[in-house]
Amino acid sequence: MKTATYSAPSNIAFIKYWGATDLDRVLPSNPSISMTLSECRSQTTVRFEPGVRAPDEIFLFDSRDQPVPLTEPFRRGIERHLAAARQRYGIEGCFHIATRNNFPAQAGLASSASGFAALAAGINEAADLGLDPAGLSDLARISGSGSASRSVFGGFVEWPASAEATSARRIAPADYWALSDVIAIVESGGKEVSSRQGHRRAAASPHFARRQELLPQRLATVRSAISNRDLETLGPILEEEAIELHLVAMSSHPPIFYWKPATLTVLEAVRRLRSDGVSAWATMDAGANVHVLCATTSEREVATALSRVPGVLQVLPDRIGTGPRRHEEAVGTAP
Ligand code: DP6
Repeated sequence: MKTATYSAPSNIAFIKYWGATDLDRVLPSNPSISMTLSECRSQTTVRFEPGVRAPDEIFLFDSRDQPVPLTEPFRRGIERHLAAARQRYGIEGCFHIATRNNFPAQAGLASSASGFAALAAGINEAADLGLDPAGLSDLARISGSGSASRSVFGGFVEWPASAEATSARRIAPADYWALSDVIAIVESGGKEVSSRQGHRRAAASPHFARRQELLPQRLATVRSAISNRDLETLGPILEEEAIELHLVAMSSHPPIFYWKPATLTVLEAVRRLRSDGVSAWATMDAGANVHVLCATTSEREVATALSRVPGVLQVLPDRIGTGPRRHEEAVGTAP
């Protein structure tokens, strides 16, 4: 029997994964680029008993390590992941999983990228898979959360798109560029339509094909903006990309509306920050909350401004981070 505990961070996409050429094999229609965060993390303990034929056990804890009931979709997500890992690596034995998020469970922030990256790191060690970082990235996305492939690495990360590209890779380390992601929470519940549904419906949007044509140039600009630490070039693309993701979602069949009125109020506040001379740029994933990217030196000013915006429930300042970490203390054992 072997036990391993890892935490992994969430990430924010600069160029979004939205649409797949093969959703079952989690092959994206386009490459995506993200920044790995530091503070928003999932921590997971995996205990593996080789050869034991018994049902897996899954436990969820809150940020203070108190047990909380599992929702069915949450349980099914982890079960799907374990099944996919067993099949891929011929694992025989039984898993005990204990997991928690350190960010507020009701913050409406996607925890699947951090959750599956932490789970993959735990499975790799507990079941002695011996995977290298690329293998770990592949294992993280195996059950459907493509963005989890990027949370295995710190810094700036690219997940290419091709039948062979099953894993992401780091394009610059976390200490390369001190960027912050100040997250304005405007919706605290989970999203009504999953990203998986969004990927499935994306190609039905009349804007999807045009997006694919525009992406090569946009990807090249983002890569070079990162390499030159050039926020003035990166920022407008972040906003373009987020608007386009939601444009595609809103024009899919049936349409998907993730924004809330306060999403637009925050976008307006970000434009106001810029007219006051602060280089702050917004992006959104498949949800209503707004991630505001800025130099870490502006983080406090941006957080203060966002906390005053009507409709903002909470502001979570986060920043670029170094990726998964190993921990000695198991999840669920705090007194
Ligand atoms: C909009 O299929 O990875 O965040 O498993 O829910 O995290 P989750 O979704 P996934 O799609 C990610 C969609 C996105 C853009 C991105 O992170 O690239």
